[in-house]
Amino acid sequence: MTTSVPKMPLPIHIPDREIIDPSIDLEAEIARLKKERNAIILAHYYQDGEIQDIADFVGDSLALSQRAKGTDADVIAFCGVHFMAETAKILNMGKTVIMPDSDAGCSLADRCPPDVFSEWMEQYPDHVVVSYINTSASIKALSDIICTSTNAVRVVESIPADKKIVFCPDRHLGRWVMKQTGREMVLWPGFCVVHEQFTARKLVKLKRLHPTAQLIAHPECEQSVLDMADYIGSTNQLINYVVDTTDVDSFIVATEMGVMHQMRKRRPGVEVIGAEPASGCECAVCPYMRLNTMEKLYLALRDLKPEVHVPEDIAKRALAPVEKMLALG
Ligand code: 13P
Ligand code: SF4
Repeated sequence: MTTSVPKMPLPIHIPDREIIDPSIDLEAEIARLKKERNAIILAHYYQDGEIQDIADFVGDSLALSQRAKGTDADVIAFCGVHFMAETAKILNMGKTVIMPDSDAGCSLADRCPPDVFSEWMEQYPDHVVVSYINTSASIKALSDIICTSTNAVRVVESIPADKKIVFCPDRHLGRWVMKQTGREMVLWPGFCVVHEQFTARKLVKLKRLHPTAQLIAHPECEQSVLDMADYIGSTNQLINYVVDTTDVDSFIVATEMGVMHQMRKRRPGVEVIGAEPASGCECAVCPYMRLNTMEKLYLALRDLKPEVHVPEDIAKRALAPVEKMLALG
């Protein structure tokens, strides 16, 4: 009797991938291909340490779009998630933008589809739309201005006080910005699957174990977590805070654990403790960001694919709100 494996729906599409010869020196090959292609490698702080170390530039989502805008490379190899690579493409429509894995999405961007958003927006016709950079190009095209977690407060403060505001898609960042600015905003109910996993209950326990540690958190965490935090900031701001706060030696970090690579690198000897997600896993990793690997980066540079495309009309409309943000810094 033979037993067949029952057909099960897979949580994500897993394409057939070429198996790379494990004896290949990937670092050397990536460096060679980068030169051959006149490519620049941009990486977000949530990438694995070895990808951060081989990149030409590592940054938060604001710095990455600033760097993408100024590049004279012919190819941008973007090690991050799709909305970040798409933003680089919007800023460089004449260049080739590739990603190691085009399935690297984002729960915030993916759960804010443009058709549903447009219908929802019919209730708020006279509102200024501020969209977090964690949105698709189509949502950016429907927005007045884009922000990142680094400049969200500055962006909202730039909007005249008599204007009503819709903020999408992260409700936690939106609530935090409302608190900082005193502005009322209508919030799209989106969330990040990584940051929503941190709970005040688990953090209270962790703080008891590390009484001298400061808790630092990304504003995508829920309110009860932010209320406990000693410092709140974007990935870049959290890294800088750890580096600059030299009278503190220990930090509990409530964001994706990729940032800890830079913290340890820039301040050797510092104790950084990753906040545990509620799921029982020991470390918080973004399942989308971590689809990118050195092997896939090598293949992407070799084959110049998967390539990121944005339709011309959408890119044109999305560029204005992105440029508006970049002008504010
Ligand atoms: P930063 O802008 O702080 O880098 O955040 C990007 C992101 O996706 C956070 O989850
Ligand atoms: Fe999106 Fe959250 Fe991953 Fe950032 S950590 S890319 S917000 S899913």
